[in-house]
Amino acid sequence: GWTTSSIVDEQVAAVAAQIGDGRAICGLSGGVDSAVAAALVQRAIGDRLTCVFVDHGLLRSGERTQVERDFVAATGVNLVTVDARERFLNALAGVTDPEQKRKIIGREFIRVFEQAERDLKAQGDYRFLVQGTLYPDVVESGGGEGTANIKSHHNVGGLPDDLQFELVEPLRLLFKDEVRRVGLELGLPATIVQRQPFPGPGLGIRIIGEVTADRLETLREADAIAREELTAAGLDQEIWQCPVVLLADVRSVGVQGDGRTYGHPIVLRPVSSEDAMTADWTRLPYEVLERISTRITNEVSEVNRVVLDVTSKPPGTIEWE
Ligand code: XMP
Repeated sequence: GWTTSSIVDEQVAAVAAQIGDGRAICGLSGGVDSAVAAALVQRAIGDRLTCVFVDHGLLRSGERTQVERDFVAATGVNLVTVDARERFLNALAGVTDPEQKRKIIGREFIRVFEQAERDLKAQGDYRFLVQGTLYPDVVESGGGEGTANIKSHHNVGGLPDDLQFELVEPLRLLFKDEVRRVGLELGLPATIVQRQPFPGPGLGIRIIGEVTADRLETLREADAIAREELTAAGLDQEIWQCPVVLLADVRSVGVQGDGRTYGHPIVLRPVSSEDAMTADWTRLPYEVLERISTRITNEVSEVNRVVLDVTSKPPGTIEWE
């Protein structure tokens, strides 16, 4: 049987053999797969690996720090962060259609990432591109899964056509649980390795309506509160993920202190799932829901109502867009 440390040894040796004395680039998404792939390659080739992290401004609170501080502290990896927040906001201005948002975010991401790759290539002979492809991804892209077309999933770090790289995919024989074990074995913190899924288009598809800087800030605050309370209640392992959604185009009347309010609702979407293909809504304890609701309505201006999504998948998808 394969032990985790034998998987690590084997993959490190394979990567070292493939790359030789060459250099590699790896796009970090903030997710588990790209982080573990990067850590593995870093173990094999050290500072001949450079990681690129694109901050598209659609990240949750603390995510950039997690990459810039925690991931770097754990691995010592070379990291280039590209601040593309303005660019994404400009590209998304006036856009409300979910598929159009996804296309724009995907397109801008590729452009920014390509530019970062070109900049790096100009500095050195970067011939290899690391991708955190897992075994299920390999299988899925081979067989045309019907559900794959429901939303145009773009995978952060996708390979642009016109750039010549040799791919390094050290996780392509592994399942998710194995990837997490490999990550822990490589010394990555649990906050990175046990991370719940988060979509590449980020908070951009959790604002129903146009994406603006103010709305992102509102959603970021509400999301941080929900995550904080779910973690404090010890529910992180039980929940597959809990999208927090801002209904930016909806307003309702409320009352706070002596005054009438006219604010936006926040939707909590806690789901339980094995593989995200189907999901059930998670029966969260009322006390936890109460704390999240009280805190969000007290602490986040613009939000005067918190509602719970009690729809399974199907018919609802996990994300709202
Ligand atoms: P849905 O909403 O289709 O989501 O039920 C299923 C799972 O996929 C995640 N998701 C994405 N992940 N890029 C990603 O990397 C995307 O564009 C994307 N859209 C949805 C979602 O968070 C859930 O875990």
